[in-house]
Amino acid sequence: MPIYRSALLRFTPEGAAIFEEDGLLATEADAQGTQRVLAAGSWSALSGQYAGREVMHWPGRIIAPGFVDLHIHYPQTDVIGSPADGLLPWLENYTFPHESRFSDSAYAAEVARFFVDELLRNGVTSAVTFCTSHPGSVDALMHEAQSRHMRMIAGKVLQDRHSPDGVRDATEQSLIDTETLIQRWHGKDRLGYAITPRFAPTSTDAQLRGAGELAAKYPDVWIQSHVAENRDEIRWARELFPASRSYLSIYDDFGLMRERALYAHCIHFDDADRALMRERRTAAAVCPTSNLFLSSGYFDFAKADEAGFLYGLASDVGGGTSFSPFHTMLAAYYVGREGHAKQGQSLSPQALWWQHTAGAARAAGLDGIVGNLQPGCEADFVVLNPQATPLLARRTAQARDLDELLFAMIVLGDDRLIERTQLA
Ligand code: GUN
Ligand code: ZN
Repeated sequence: MPIYRSALLRFTPEGAAIFEEDGLLATEADAQGTQRVLAAGSWSALSGQYAGREVMHWPGRIIAPGFVDLHIHYPQTDVIGSPADGLLPWLENYTFPHESRFSDSAYAAEVARFFVDELLRNGVTSAVTFCTSHPGSVDALMHEAQSRHMRMIAGKVLQDRHSPDGVRDATEQSLIDTETLIQRWHGKDRLGYAITPRFAPTSTDAQLRGAGELAAKYPDVWIQSHVAENRDEIRWARELFPASRSYLSIYDDFGLMRERALYAHCIHFDDADRALMRERRTAAAVCPTSNLFLSSGYFDFAKADEAGFLYGLASDVGGGTSFSPFHTMLAAYYVGREGHAKQGQSLSPQALWWQHTAGAARAAGLDGIVGNLQPGCEADFVVLNPQATPLLARRTAQARDLDELLFAMIVLGDDRLIERTQLA
């Protein structure tokens, strides 16, 4: 393997950025054939140890960790930009009809290929992904991710009520299918399975109970769902599950809150919900472009930090409007000002970047595995070209420090900034 020479971005365990102007990254294959970081640091300090190795030298470029998207729907790739008055009409009018097409495995395979290409073009090397209720939609995505050697966590959606023909599944069969898919895909190469109840209102008690039983039986499998996104959705969930203390508590009552559980949105929480997230070591997938597009509300970063629960950034395509982590980080910056404004603070560019890389990995239980370029991490990385557009070149050339450089890329960046995506 070559070693790599360029500017290099990585993070400390506390989430501070480390930046080498002239950096070195060396990798080596582990027993499974995955490239892992062997050394990362300054060229002057480390290059002597690698004399004789081929050098890939990228002057003027930045090697940075591949991005981690904590929540995205591959079957909604073609739903992006469908306007609606809010979440529930958007699901009914656009999303459910479109997802019904994934009963066709050939169609699912075509979309899966495009989806994975689009993630990689945007520098996203790990994703936690919803499929549809059709088991074949999971096979299509897993096959595609496996063929690229990509880290992909995904699952079959569970939705056995309040859903139209074409996407509604049958309680018992849905749980059998979930277990079959866990055994087929979880832990194969870089793939992981996520038990995926769509959201509480579209599952019966029996389906949620069965999902919780599978979560207990397979403790290293992930769980993903949605919670507290939209006021009408919350009212509906509370009516359907009056015995639970809150919308979030419904999931807890069915054994669906634990480590490796990821809940998208988490906007309309009270302090008890936030404390429960922390207690259960359950993480929030924060989806700012989606929340702005569907007018859902603002995730409260300040209160999340105060409560001390895990979270990271996510695109939520197709409620979200972009595959680009730069667009997501910029939207998070705008949203963060709402919560932090009271303290006169904004989210820093280093914090935003961390929340979409090493911080997101930590939230997903993949700390030290992806999202960073420290020794031992799987070596997924992007090569950024800060000269990719005339305006980026002009603005980044005037950056006086690391924060200004990162901020310029967050504000002006998109897929053009990603010159190359390298999977481990
Ligand atoms: N809640 C239930 N399903 C969905 C979905 O597909 N997208 C979003 N944003 N929220 C949901
Ligand atoms: Zn979603």
